[in-house]
Amino acid sequence: MTTVSDDSHDYELEFFGDISPDLTIPDLSRILIISKDQSYLTHGIHKFPAKFFPELPRYLIRRYSVKGGSVLDPMCGSGTVVLESLLSGRAAIGVDVDPMAQLITRVKTQSLPHNELDSHANDLLDWIDHTSVYPSIPEFNYRDNWFQPFVLHELGIISDAINHFSSSGLLPEFCDFFRVIFSSIIREVSNADPHCTRTVIRKKSIRKISAGETIFKFRDALTKQINAMSELTASLGMIEPKEVVLKHESATAMTIENSSIDLAVTSPPYINAVDYPRTHQLEMYWLGMIGDGPLSNMKRNYIGTETVYKREYEMLQYSSLSTLDPLLEKIFESDPRRSFIVFKFFEDMKKQLIETLRVLRPGARYCLAIGSNLIRGIPVHSHEILSEMATSSEVGFHLERSFFSGLIRHFIRIPRKERMLGEWVLILRKPEY
Ligand SMILES: C[S@@+](CC[C@H](N)C(=O)[O-])C[C@H]1O[C@@H](n2cnc3c(N)ncnc32)[C@H](O)[C@@H]1O
Repeated sequence: MTTVSDDSHDYELEFFGDISPDLTIPDLSRILIISKDQSYLTHGIHKFPAKFFPELPRYLIRRYSVKGGSVLDPMCGSGTVVLESLLSGRAAIGVDVDPMAQLITRVKTQSLPHNELDSHANDLLDWIDHTSVYPSIPEFNYRDNWFQPFVLHELGIISDAINHFSSSGLLPEFCDFFRVIFSSIIREVSNADPHCTRTVIRKKSIRKISAGETIFKFRDALTKQINAMSELTASLGMIEPKEVVLKHESATAMTIENSSIDLAVTSPPYINAVDYPRTHQLEMYWLGMIGDGPLSNMKRNYIGTETVYKREYEMLQYSSLSTLDPLLEKIFESDPRRSFIVFKFFEDMKKQLIETLRVLRPGARYCLAIGSNLIRGIPVHSHEILSEMATSSEVGFHLERSFFSGLIRHFIRIPRKERMLGEWVLILRKPEY
């Protein structure tokens, strides 16, 4: 066993890349995974906040399910678990309320024949280079603050090109691939801070974009991702194809049969950290996924939402969990609204745990990676709270083991004092009977 340290932790085990599925990670141990390639195949097709490193889900999938089995990620985000399940010869089910998560996961896990993709991409780029029509540019709040005029113009040309090919009958899987590549450059060419999940303009971080750069970036991303897609298609061609089912619904009420799933692996949202609709708002405007109205209705569906009503947080709410109630009380003293947000996060997670227990086969595991964070200066150790909750009589999992996994690089910039230091991985098991 090696011991390494970062600022605050000693690690008992350090892994460079893959973890052998034969290894039992000791209960309560601290491990560090140094990811070899977080963007291999199509994993890097689009940024997504708090994405899994592929190595952790790959280990969990291979350790706790067999080839030909089924793996569910009830909050699949950009589809890391879904893709790793497929590559490991398992059928995959990805659930998420977020439309961007659905689109990215769908594109990331499909096979597209290289020659056809290449030829459609050339036609698309040709159209972009030769169009002389003024492009259609969607209307949305503060549009002209988010983008410079010539950037809007170039994004409009790309968007028109994709829509043109879509309405001329190009198969949806190719159009969706082009949409994801288009989406992947939007934040980069906007005036929004590219490192912050909240879509905000910070004068200091406005990038200098020159005329023609937006189309150049699209072309560049397209070339890279065509290669990635070809490699994925070749890799999937070498294994027996397994089904991918994606469901745009809430993890708290899934349309999945009872006792039908062999393993669930997920990383839920962090409390207080990522506002997913706001993170992807510019991309969603451009992709026509949202209109000009407020995002608040959409936000209410997300676990960890900060969109709560005053009447909900006038009174202190209790959870009956000994690990949570003292924290709710303390947070309530300085910030009743925040206390309710934390309460609601765990109430929704309870519904989610009950729902995952329902769909798992008896004896199957639910592997959950969750970080701790500070709320109003108070440490909230979510893994302790979720462990108590998951094993309570209301839910009914057994906690088989848990371990701490050092966190390396994530696409989120959270104030230093609120930053998560790593993730705890809980291995929960549905009782046999
Ligand atoms: C930490 S991210 C998952 C990232 C993912 N592991 C990956 O590698 O990309 C959490 C996800 O939970 C999703 N989510 C939040 N509330 C949800 C709900 N009620 N039902 C399903 N998914 C939800 C968010 O949309 C987000 O995609």
